[in-house]
Amino acid sequence: MKVLYVCTELFPLLKTGGLGDVSGALPPALRDAGCDVRVLLPGFPPIRSGVGPSRLPRSYPLQLPAGQGPRVEDLGLSEPPVVHPATLPGSGLAAYVLEARALFDRPGNPYLDTHGDNGIRFALLAWSAACIGHGLDPHWQPDVLHCHDWHTGLAPLYLRQMAMPGPPPAASVFTIHNLAYQGIFPDSLFGQLGLPEYLFGIDGIEFWGQVSFMKAGLQAADRITTVSPAYAREILEPEQGCGLDGLLRARSAVVSGILNGVDYEVWNPSRDGVLMHPYDWDSLAGKVKAKAQLQRRMGLQVRRDAMVFGVVSRLTEQKGLHLVEALTDELVSMGAQLAVLGAGDIPLEQAFLRAAARHPGRIAVDIGYDESLAHAIMGGADVIMVPSRFEPCGLTQLYGLRYGALPLVHRVGGLADTVVDASAQNLEAGFATGFIFDEYTVQGLRTALHRALRLYAQPPAWARVQQIAMRQRFDWGEAAAQYTSLYRSLKPDAAHA
Ligand code: ADP
Ligand code: GLC
Repeated sequence: MKVLYVCTELFPLLKTGGLGDVSGALPPALRDAGCDVRVLLPGFPPIRSGVGPSRLPRSYPLQLPAGQGPRVEDLGLSEPPVVHPATLPGSGLAAYVLEARALFDRPGNPYLDTHGDNGIRFALLAWSAACIGHGLDPHWQPDVLHCHDWHTGLAPLYLRQMAMPGPPPAASVFTIHNLAYQGIFPDSLFGQLGLPEYLFGIDGIEFWGQVSFMKAGLQAADRITTVSPAYAREILEPEQGCGLDGLLRARSAVVSGILNGVDYEVWNPSRDGVLMHPYDWDSLAGKVKAKAQLQRRMGLQVRRDAMVFGVVSRLTEQKGLHLVEALTDELVSMGAQLAVLGAGDIPLEQAFLRAAARHPGRIAVDIGYDESLAHAIMGGADVIMVPSRFEPCGLTQLYGLRYGALPLVHRVGGLADTVVDASAQNLEAGFATGFIFDEYTVQGLRTALHRALRLYAQPPAWARVQQIAMRQRFDWGEAAAQYTSLYRSLKPDAAHA
């Protein structure tokens, strides 16, 4: 089974969030599950400089037959776009890098639309995926294109629309990591996409008078997946459907949820290079040291008895962190500490910084992106807070589980699928792994916080839950097996790798 995995970020080369972690881990897991996987990435600077040379013989200029594909000729590129074979570091997987220097060779966040050409940039990525799906590389034609998020949404559509001779094209799977980010562009973009007029309509990729790349993926993919079973159900309803629930309901027969996994090579307290004293469920004394290490690193009072609440997150409306901010003074009055690492909405960043200024030594806030500090917080925190309004999967609560930083989460999406609440019943049955609240309000969060504090006051009970949490497994192998059987349902005759 040949699979072309199409994405825009991949840990450790480029990561802005969970998609990077997923793309770093899932392709190797698919290979281990027996697929012949290659990854297609746009040539952002850290990707171009991070990939290794390829053993494959040559590069492929993108063919742009007249009237088909995005009108890049309008952009006046000095060189035609090319797909370069490359090798991924670590996994050694084969990759293709889409080179169009004028479009991708830009510093900073890869999604910022600094030149106002995001539509055409990501259309070109999708087009290159479709070209490979149609046999651009004569030595390797994929059976399946597996596309991720709106950046790749046009790929299943181009794949279907492209009129080319040769063997039948690949099938397509489109994975939604976050339906809230849709890739919406002005209607004027449509004329540049090289698609027939009729597709600018309600049954095509038009969305309230504009062009939606997410909608293109949802319309044209053979299968749609999302990153947890709960989110797969939630997006069929208006509340979480972001205006696309009607379309998703119409296609519900091909929608399913496959839960993300954790890369336990990267997120593992027993061999985490950031922790001076690694630990595991049978050596929790190391976690006490990790707490002291974190307290020192972030300028918190080094106190073993202070319960440390941690946050590692994008600071956006999705993540519900205004609920945490509203409780900062209360947390401190209860003797707890708070360690926040995040970046995003300026008013929220400032509110957290003000809380830190009010409570030096008790609240520490680091505004920025820091992979090493993220590991230190997982190691040092007693509780990791993920009170998201919605959460397609969420990875930080899974990392929290592995590090014995018990997740405190809102009952939604992947959070609901992965955390077991410390109710009296679940505690007694030995199932509890964290704290869940239902009501998305400050009061809802407060009640869960109090429950966490009460359990923390009983060290043996707390340690028991930590040990259960740390033993949970969210293996990529399991997800890879589910994706593989999905691919096989589309291409039953594809050869085994
Ligand atoms: P999302 O993709 O919605 O941001 P996830 O929980 O799936 O949420 O993944 C977030 C990933 O990004 C995790 O690996 C987390 O550790 C990381 N992360 C988020 N914010 C930061 C930050 N400020 N610094 C370092 N890592 C961060
Ligand atoms: C998105 C979602 C997050 C998910 C991640 C990886 O960023 O917001 O819930 O874990 O993708 O699938």
